[in-house]
Amino acid sequence: MTILDLFRLDGKTALVTGAAQGIGFEIARGLSEAGANVIIADLNPEVGEAAASSIGGSFQMLNVTDSGAVRDLAAKLSSVHILVNNAGIVRNTPAEETPDDDWKAVMGVNLDGVFWCCREFGRRMLDAGSGSIVSTASMSGLISNHPQPQAAYNASKAAVIHLTRSLAGEWAGRGVRVNAVAPGYTATPLTKRGLETPGWRETWLGTTPMGRLAEPAEIAPAVLYLASEASSFVTGHTLVIDGGYTVW
Ligand code: NAI
Repeated sequence: MTILDLFRLDGKTALVTGAAQGIGFEIARGLSEAGANVIIADLNPEVGEAAASSIGGSFQMLNVTDSGAVRDLAAKLSSVHILVNNAGIVRNTPAEETPDDDWKAVMGVNLDGVFWCCREFGRRMLDAGSGSIVSTASMSGLISNHPQPQAAYNASKAAVIHLTRSLAGEWAGRGVRVNAVAPGYTATPLTKRGLETPGWRETWLGTTPMGRLAEPAEIAPAVLYLASEASSFVTGHTLVIDGGYTVW
């Protein structure tokens, strides 16, 4: 056994939510390259099916906000060893003008969806006595972004970071580790509109010490570390991958 073997996922099944594109797809690809049998679970079947077949994985249609659908999927898949909660959305509305539906939509995907998946897949991991959960939080759970207003998003990601600690504490003695990653600005469809909005791109790059966005593939290795036995004594941790954003 070499140190690199600790990062291998041969024989493991990994389910990644929101992996039809963007960060989730690169995570799915990375876990697959490490030997896992990868299931992409996403709202978008057209992109998701093609994404799954491109990495030799499979696709499951899933809306993470639907707790019944999450329960049914967890029951259908006999054993998932690794869960990556990655599905997420953002709404850029000033707080004082945020409609109820926008607040609920963001919380529904980014927080409720993470909890439903942790509860349903986590229960089965606890029964099996082992498992690893990694959620895609955000640096937005640690800082408040500017210039764009996104209070619901920031609050949802802060909640994911603390949910991660809470579940880690509950489940540490029963073989299930729970961690998160906190990416900074990353070049995906999610940030495309923001990059095109006058003033945002300059502010985002100017407030990131490395002076650039992350590529989605730069997030995946951290998820592999947290998902695999390489991090066997790590739980409740949020690994920040932000080009230095949070040091300023
Ligand atoms: P993206 O918009 O490119 O991809 C999100 C994926 O999630 C899509 O495939 C979409 O179909 C899926 N999805 C959305 N709602 C869903 C639902 N209810 N159920 C199942 N799937 C659903 O986004 P991106 O940028 O790849 O973001 C992935 C995660 O990373 C999100 O949690 C996001 O908040 C987080 N993040 C992104 C950053 C960025 O700068 N792009 C920075 C920090 C965190």
